[in-house]
Amino acid sequence: MKYKRLGLIVAFCFTSWVVLAFVIFNENSAKKNDVEIRKSSLVKYIQELELQIIQQEETYKILSDKLKKLAPETKGDTTILVLEEPSGLQQRTPSSTIKQDVLQGAEIILPVIVFSCNRPDIRRSLDGLLKYRPDAKKFPIIVSQDCAHGATAEVIRSYTDASQVTYIQQPDQSEPIVPPGETKFKGYFKIARHYLFGLKKVFRTFNHSAVIIVEDDLDVAPDFFSYFASTYHLLKSDPTLWCVSAWNDNGKARLVDMQQGNQLLYRSDFFPGLGWMITKELWDELEPKWPKSYWDDWMRRPEQRKDRACIRPEISRTRTFGKIGVSNGLFFDKHLKYIKLNEMPVDFSSKNLSYLVQSTYDTDYIRNVYSLPVASAPDVRANTKLPFDGPVRIPYYTKDTFKSAAKLLGLMDDFKSGVPRTGYHGIVSFFLNGRRIYLAPHSSWKGYDLTWS
Ligand SMILES: *[C@@H]1O[C@H](CO)[C@@H](O)[C@H](O)[C@H]1NC(C)=O
Ligand SMILES: *[C@@H]1O[C@H](CO)[C@@H](O)[C@H](O)[C@H]1NC(C)=O
Repeated sequence: MKYKRLGLIVAFCFTSWVVLAFVIFNENSAKKNDVEIRKSSLVKYIQELELQIIQQEETYKILSDKLKKLAPETKGDTTILVLEEPSGLQQRTPSSTIKQDVLQGAEIILPVIVFSCNRPDIRRSLDGLLKYRPDAKKFPIIVSQDCAHGATAEVIRSYTDASQVTYIQQPDQSEPIVPPGETKFKGYFKIARHYLFGLKKVFRTFNHSAVIIVEDDLDVAPDFFSYFASTYHLLKSDPTLWCVSAWNDNGKARLVDMQQGNQLLYRSDFFPGLGWMITKELWDELEPKWPKSYWDDWMRRPEQRKDRACIRPEISRTRTFGKIGVSNGLFFDKHLKYIKLNEMPVDFSSKNLSYLVQSTYDTDYIRNVYSLPVASAPDVRANTKLPFDGPVRIPYYTKDTFKSAAKLLGLMDDFKSGVPRTGYHGIVSFFLNGRRIYLAPHSSWKGYDLTWS
């Protein structure tokens, strides 16, 4: 009971401080007639508040731990003080260790499909794939071309002549039916139609059991094939995974661990695309409802994702060189061109990847993140006010505080279906000034908010 009262006093002091500070703050800033200044001060202020809440929480945790030690047998009244585990620790499946039969099973054929249209520069992509492909039988390359572009077709044929790739062509060159107001997005309708054609070929005609999907403007890393071949087993055995991607949306050199991060892999609730692998089982599910356009954002919607995650690397295994494409060149100039391609190859077949299985990962990874000391985004950015080394957690509570922290730190700040890029249970991991940092929601996080965009 003593602790309960103490808790109440702490809560009361805190609340009074908040109210007082807010009143003073409001008066002060009302004098300034500048909306922008007020807004940014407010954001800073909210961040301060969040830190305060977290610190209160830590105090609360210490106190309740003490209480548990003092009265381990006590029941009833005091149980309300017992902290709940972070919601992320709940498991979606009872257990899923990598099945031995999958690990030791027959060698799988893992084709790569390259989607192409009117870019003769596909030569660069194909040369990269051929350069690093360890085995032509195990990794057949299929080039699917739309657009019937002559110069590009000629380039592709130069590879089929040497039997290096299989060449298929999307036959339907009619103009897609586009709703009024979306005519400028016609390209996206063609792409979705092309993907449907190509993936049907891979799975229905060629009867493959999985595929790696790339586009004609991607460079691949030397360990691209090792990465996909070794994570295939994970994808097959963990039903809470639905893809493996080679791409880190925050994979700029200054945001990843360039020294030791090359082996590091993550689970991600955000579908990254840009070099990705799926199984036939997933295609069986997606094909009947494949959309007419914007297939990637469609994939990211909850009806398709169904709470499943992708594996993604710390350091990307693909890089795009395609500034000119259907999506705008501005995005390329601002973000895509800075994504670092891994140059220190890893032999993933010799690595123990069990840590990525959901049951293990959700216990270890999430528990670790929420056990870390807390820091504010400005302090992390300045990197001078943190009196210790090692990983930290930056908490966020609202869409706006996420965005302002992301902007400050140079992370992608957008959401798709409420999920921030690279996010897992809302947590975004990155590496800045030699330190691992997790931008993470409150520990009682209950799921993504679809209104965050
Ligand atoms: C397709 O492959 C599966 C095994 O992956 C096999 O059981 C099936 O018979 C094959 N179908 C055809 C038509 O070749
Ligand atoms: C692989 O790692 C898991 C933990 O993630 C561990 O339990 C297991 O024993 C490891 N296996 C081997 C063969 O080292």
